[in-house]
Amino acid sequence: MRFTVAIDGPAAAGKGTISRAVAERFGFAHLDTGALYRAVGVKAQAGGLDPVAAAKGLCPEDLARDDLRTLEAGQAASIVAVIPDVRAALVDFQREFARREGGAVLDGRDIGTVICPGAEVKLFVTASPEVRAHRRWLEVGGEEAQVLAQVRERDDRDMNRADAPLRPAEDALVLDTSDLSIEEAVARACEAVSQKLG
Ligand code: DC
Repeated sequence: MRFTVAIDGPAAAGKGTISRAVAERFGFAHLDTGALYRAVGVKAQAGGLDPVAAAKGLCPEDLARDDLRTLEAGQAASIVAVIPDVRAALVDFQREFARREGGAVLDGRDIGTVICPGAEVKLFVTASPEVRAHRRWLEVGGEEAQVLAQVRERDDRDMNRADAPLRPAEDALVLDTSDLSIEEAVARACEAVSQKLG
């Protein structure tokens, strides 16, 4: 069976948690596509490499680095993600993953709009910038105001880039998690998948 669940949304909206839970519940494979951009950003920065070359040469070890979840890696990812040739270098891998046998959940920014416009289920997971910054701050610590500034800066860059900007697909179900518990958000996402699976 081939079945794709596309989960998009801004940073720290709950995409990762929801995606992992949906994948586990239905036995689907999960790809965190943000990790691809993070790995490209970190690899380019650390090695002084051209981001396009870093994207074309991305390998499993790059994705296994333990510094991909930092705020700096997120910023580096958002910066290289603006470059059309970086995005183009990552398309085939994501599309192949999406059509694998047994079902797949992909989370990112452009899965429902560009990578998998034919996905069986599309969710756009969002929350207010303040709520998202607070959640991220609980994970990373430091100054909450600085985390909020970075969330806003990243939103702005991700939403306003020319190539594959962050926006909900027309047929996406929008899930605002500002006032939802993790359990409630996961339950709604699973409900959408169950309905489609029939
Ligand atoms: O989901 P994340 O925070 O790990 O993503 C990091 C950055 O990567 C994000 O700010 C923009 C970019 N990204 C993208 O452009 N397209 C995707 N499908 C996933 C991430």
